Amino acid sequence: MTTRRKLVVGNWKMHGSHAANADLLQGILAARPFVGEVAVCVPFPYLSEVAVTLANSSVAWGSQDVSAHAQGAYTGEVSAAMLAEFGCRYAIVGHSERRAYHAESDQLVADKAKAALAKGLTPIVCVGETLEQREAGETEAVVKRQLSAVIHTLGQCIGEVVVAYEPVWAIGTGRTASPEQAQAVHAVLRAQLAAATPRATEMKLLYGGSVKADNAAVLFSQADIDGGLIGGAALKAADFVAVARAAG
Ligand code: 13P
Repeated sequence: MTTRRKLVVGNWKMHGSHAANADLLQGILAARPFVGEVAVCVPFPYLSEVAVTLANSSVAWGSQDVSAHAQGAYTGEVSAAMLAEFGCRYAIVGHSERRAYHAESDQLVADKAKAALAKGLTPIVCVGETLEQREAGETEAVVKRQLSAVIHTLGQCIGEVVVAYEPVWAIGTGRTASPEQAQAVHAVLRAQLAAATPRATEMKLLYGGSVKADNAAVLFSQADIDGGLIGGAALKAADFVAVARAAG
């Protein structure tokens, strides 16, 4: 069996302030070392202070989005090259909130993943079905369609990405997928990746959606779940540290 090092990523979404970020990061740093890898994906304006606070620590940082374009007249967008200058390791792409509120298509998400990889960032590609889609029995078809656009666009480089399965109905609702439901989708995604790259067994597949200290360990112990993408529980150091420890 392949041993993949677990990865726990905090997605701060649109939360934070200078003071709150400093407290949160100090709390995370004070809890080191972690057995798994730990990262935080923060709002753009805070990248530079986070980069300074986390420099030379074992905690990585990233963004919550990236432009599909390299540069140019794209008001409001942030390029992968800019993020790379801040020492970003990760860029979340295709989060369901961006797909829903910013009409991001599967192809745009794939193009963003490509732009991130081109500058040495690791894209965390999010996929996941809505409640309506799950109830219609479409879960597998939806996540496969979302991932397939990325596989098609990246070719062999698909082996470089992290994939996060985040069922939309589990995000911010307190309603977590059961470990069996999550594992079943992760197994589908792993098989789809295996058909595209020999590196599929090394790739990290994260689960996201109402992960908390009390459900993280059992989710992370599933065969194809290699850690988590954490929203609400990433905003308080004690909560996030407890989830990160569950990956140990
Ligand atoms: P919650 O952990 O708040 O459900 O959010 C999950 C998520 O969307 C992480 O990207």
